Parts: sequence; C-alpha cells; structure tokens
Amino acid sequence: MRSTHQNLTAWPLRALTLAVFFNLVPMLLTTSIASQDTPLIGSSDLLSASKKATTTQDGQSLAPYVPTPREVVDRMLQLAEVTPDDVVYDLGSGDGRIPISAARDYGARGVGVDIDPERIAEANANARREGVADRVTFILGDALATDVSEASVVTLYLLSSSNMKLRPILTSQLSAGARIVSHAFNMGDWQPDAVESFNDSRGNPRTIYLWKFDGEHRP
Ligand SMILES: C[S@@+](CC[C@H](N)C(=O)[O-])C[C@H]1O[C@@H](n2cnc3c(N)ncnc32)[C@H](O)[C@@H]1O
Repeated sequence: MRSTHQNLTAWPLRALTLAVFFNLVPMLLTTSIASQDTPLIGSSDLLSASKKATTTQDGQSLAPYVPTPREVVDRMLQLAEVTPDDVVYDLGSGDGRIPISAARDYGARGVGVDIDPERIAEANANARREGVADRVTFILGDALATDVSEASVVTLYLLSSSNMKLRPILTSQLSAGARIVSHAFNMGDWQPDAVESFNDSRGNPRTIYLWKFDGEHRP
C-alpha cells in the first residue's frame, strides 16, 4: 500500500524531470554549438574588432580573429562550387573551419594560413578531430608572403583594405579559372561575378562575393 502511494506520487515528478531533461539538454547543446559562432554581423563585427588590430611581430595584421558562422562557410563553398578536384586556400584561416569543411564536406584538399600560432594549433586539433588531417594543411605565416599558386579556390574573411593588399598577389599567382570568395568584404573596383546577400539563421544580414579569375593581373 505504501509503495503504491509512493509510485503514484513519484510518477508526476518523474514525468516532470524527464520533460525538463529532454527540453533542456537539446537547448543547452544548441546554445553551446551556436556560441562557437559569432552572433554578430559579417562586416560590422570584423570592423569593430579590427579597431584593436595592430601589426604583429611576424607581419601585418589583416584582420582580427572573428570566425565565419558555419552556415556561411557552407554558402561560400557552395558559391565557389567546390569539388574534390579543388585545392581550397583560406588566407587568415582562424580555427580552420573553411579548409576543414572543404575537405570533410566537399572532398577537396584544404590549406589554411594564419599568422597566429594559437589559431594554427587549434586548426590542427580540429582537423584531427574531424578526421581530415591527411587532407588539410595549416601554415603558420603571413598571408601576404604565401605562395597561393596551387590554389583553385581562395577564401577570405579579411577587411577590404586587406583584400586590396592581396589582390595583386592573387591575380599574379592564381591560374585563370580560380575562384575567390570573400565573406563581407569586396575588392575595390574589381567587380564580383556574383554577390549573395541573405539573412543567417539568427536573422543577421550576410554578404558573400565571388570572383572567377579571368587571368588578368590587377594591381
Ligand atoms: C576574421 S578571421 C577569419 C577566420 C576564418 N577565415 C573564418 O572565416 O572563420 C581573420 C584571421 O586572419 C588572421 N590573420 C590576420 N593577419 C594575418 C596575416 N597577415 N597573415 C595570415 N593570417 C592573418 C587572424 O589571425 C585571424 O585568424
């Protein structure tokens, strides 16, 4: 009799505990995954963060670290029509998410270049965790001093002024047919072949630019 009574009172409590558990756990997981991405908007977050950016010991800072949200990474790689035949260079590669995604989701080979040794260590650890360490390489160095001639796709999330510094390098080293995709920032008077503007899943406006290199050098 006593145990029946206990069962009767315990059930609503158990049901409540289960309901709270199954609602809370996915919510906490979503929050923790989402918090890896910036909740801020593509150009304004990088611009405000860049006010703190300075010249580093090993080269010029082209942009502070602000990661591209994963859904925007996907749109960039789709816009570039990345295939397993591509070699994707991300100049200023942060935690490596773009080369890693290019290798893991599109079968490409990925190369990331970053001036910050902490970012390179993080990117290498992420590549190992995602099982693509054999198809991505991270180089500690200055993007302005990197040979990008083997790239068929170059991705950028740097300031416009930095894109302009890279423009003569990219257009003298890349082969005609290479694609360049930039998150949020353009390349001066070089008109893009495509521009995609959309709201991300948080409702923030995003813009990505695509240039299909025609082989003409641009200073
Ligand atoms: C805005 S974050 C972009 C990170 C990544 N591409 C993404 O979209 O998630 C810019 C990155 O560029 C790196 N960076 C800044 N100046 C650089 C330079 N001269 N050469 C290479 N990387 C640089 C920073 O350390 C930072 O990780």
